[in-house]
Amino acid sequence: MILSIESSCDDSAIAITQIATKKLLFHKKISQELEHSIYGGVVPELAARLHAETLPKILEECKPYFKDLKAVAVTSSPGLAVTLVEGVVMAKAVSLALDIPIIGVNHLVGHIYSLFIEKETTFPLTVLLVSGGHTQVMEVKSLSDIKTVAKSMDDSFGESFDKTAKMMGLGYPGGPLIEKLAKNGDRKKYNFTIPLSQSKEIAFSYSGLKNAVRLAVEKASEDEYKDIAASFEHIATAHLIQKLKKYFKEVPPKRFAIVGGASANLYLRSKIEELLKPYGASLLLSELKYCSDNAAMIGRVAVEMYE
Ligand code: KG4
Ligand code: ZN
Repeated sequence: MILSIESSCDDSAIAITQIATKKLLFHKKISQELEHSIYGGVVPELAARLHAETLPKILEECKPYFKDLKAVAVTSSPGLAVTLVEGVVMAKAVSLALDIPIIGVNHLVGHIYSLFIEKETTFPLTVLLVSGGHTQVMEVKSLSDIKTVAKSMDDSFGESFDKTAKMMGLGYPGGPLIEKLAKNGDRKKYNFTIPLSQSKEIAFSYSGLKNAVRLAVEKASEDEYKDIAASFEHIATAHLIQKLKKYFKEVPPKRFAIVGGASANLYLRSKIEELLKPYGASLLLSELKYCSDNAAMIGRVAVEMYE
């Protein structure tokens, strides 16, 4: 078995994965959303302090598995330095105490493997990663052959939802809150510009849209927030669709996946489904509970790396 630890942002999570069967034997995640909510975003030092409290408690529950552990895995990058180190120090302690090797796992590769928890991998795949830290398209042929073909030049898709929610005083994380608010709003009410629509480059940008939303929020009454949320979600998604369309002209999709916390967004999912239809391409999604940060995806990568 492999014990895996995730602490790259505001979720403390530990999983136990059986190497031979890829079965998830244990998974526990303690989110800090409530603690960060009043600040409208993650406060790194607070997150680190909460990891230091919660990770040892979860580890305690894993003790019955200690005798069967062949390795310990931990998210090593990318993420918040002060929170990553909490997981890494714990992994080093476990490695030393049990005399087992330590495996450092890339968090973004973890999100890709969230598609394959308790399943075999099926590559090649074109993957859209939409999280709080990243917005990128990757061509994935195997664990060791992952090519990033497009990425954000500034803010990420998920982050733009978080910032919009913060401007409206809704709390954190903004993704689900904005998605809920947008359901009753008018998507055409605010004529925000689709970012980089004149540019030939296949890349993403959310800082301009964020500023346009800020100006709209400043002028609006609270009754109008739902229309801003709906128009924002529409344009934020249209930007992804427009650039993917451009990319598909060069590289038509066969098997496509959306991963990361924001892949839970149903409006985005429906627009991607529409986009893939003419190509007859299939769409892979992670189980909803594994879209956001978790340790099961880190354990799943670690099994591959261990083997
Ligand atoms: O993958 P994740 O848990 O953490 C990172 O690796 O960043 O993603 C968290 C991000 C947050 O920005 C959150 O607002 C966004 O995913 N998110 C959503 C939705 N659910 C979570 N964004 C849009 N719509 C959602 N339903
Ligand atoms: Zn993540």
